[in-house]
Amino acid sequence: MGLIDNLKWRYATKKFDATKKISSEDLKEIKTAIQLSASSYGLQLYKVLIIEDNGLREQLRLVSYGQKQITEAAYLVVFCNYTTVTEADIDAYFTLKSQMEGTDISALQGYSDFIKADVMNRSDIERDKWTSNQTYIALGNLLNACAELKIDACPMEGFEVDKYNEILNLKEQGLNASVIAAIGYRSEEDYTQYKKKVRKSIERLFA
Ligand SMILES: Cc1cc2nc3c(=O)[nH]c(=O)nc-3n(C[C@H](O)[C@H](O)[C@H](O)COP(=O)(O)O)c2cc1C
Repeated sequence: MGLIDNLKWRYATKKFDATKKISSEDLKEIKTAIQLSASSYGLQLYKVLIIEDNGLREQLRLVSYGQKQITEAAYLVVFCNYTTVTEADIDAYFTLKSQMEGTDISALQGYSDFIKADVMNRSDIERDKWTSNQTYIALGNLLNACAELKIDACPMEGFEVDKYNEILNLKEQGLNASVIAAIGYRSEEDYTQYKKKVRKSIERLFA
């Protein structure tokens, strides 16, 4: 199946088959798709938690408007954006870049200073939005990778961010739960899979 067929196949799964697990090979491929996501300046200012523990997911479901996907899916993926960005984060990126590309780090100094100025000049709110935006690109890649692997997914914003931050101790780590996705296999009983896709026409969507 090509990209468009995969996109037609996927849907935001409401009911997962809790007995079906994702193979380690498929999970690795999903992780790699997330790893390869584009990000602003390539900084990847987020961390991704992949949660399987049932007790923990039950706690999270209670602060996700009771959405059953949280516990019935094989995994819950929590995309966490950095709440603070330091010069050390940018230095770490340039150290990695110079190692991977085999370039002298001093040759990258000007670019590094430019990025530091850009990032540090943003207000806390702007920076938080900016790092959170990056997680949605990773979420998009997760959805596409899952569709290619015929794994079902439900992207979700319906959760209490502060409660997630508390339960997962994210604040202490300089992280914030930005967006989540449940991944696994659809239940035959999920009626939403039989519904038609609702999308604006190409004519209305594009000017
Ligand atoms: C960022 C985002 C947040 C969403 N939050 C939820 C959610 O909390 N619960 C849910 O059941 N679906 C959620 N959805 C799924 C959308 O409702 C769904 O993608 C949309 O209706 C289009 O349907 P389709 O994905 O099945 O084609 C979310 C989707 C996105 C992209």
